[in-house]
Amino acid sequence: MVTVTYIQHSGETHVVEVKPGLSVMEGAVRNNVPGIDADCGGACACATCHVYVDPDWLEKTGKAAAMEESMLDFAEGVEPNSRLSCQIPVTPELDGLIVRLPQSQH
Ligand code: FES
Repeated sequence: MVTVTYIQHSGETHVVEVKPGLSVMEGAVRNNVPGIDADCGGACACATCHVYVDPDWLEKTGKAAAMEESMLDFAEGVEPNSRLSCQIPVTPELDGLIVRLPQSQH
């Protein structure tokens, strides 16, 4: 299992174990982490799974693909470390990953 930490804008922190192969979004939804609605079910078509990747992890999570970039245009408060969490596959290399949620998602 891979440990992922989700930090709400309020500071509330959820540390959960996620099975490799799931996405960072699925890890949140399956563990009842609030703030990731994932309205489109992970199809990169809603932007309700927006997260900020902790700067220390950006290299390992990689960059958003073109389709993800264009969907991020619809998200609020986009920053250089913004990603759609449904597009980040959980791998053993991401053990310890930290993501923060935007103020608009809670
Ligand atoms: Fe809809 Fe990620 S769940 S874009």
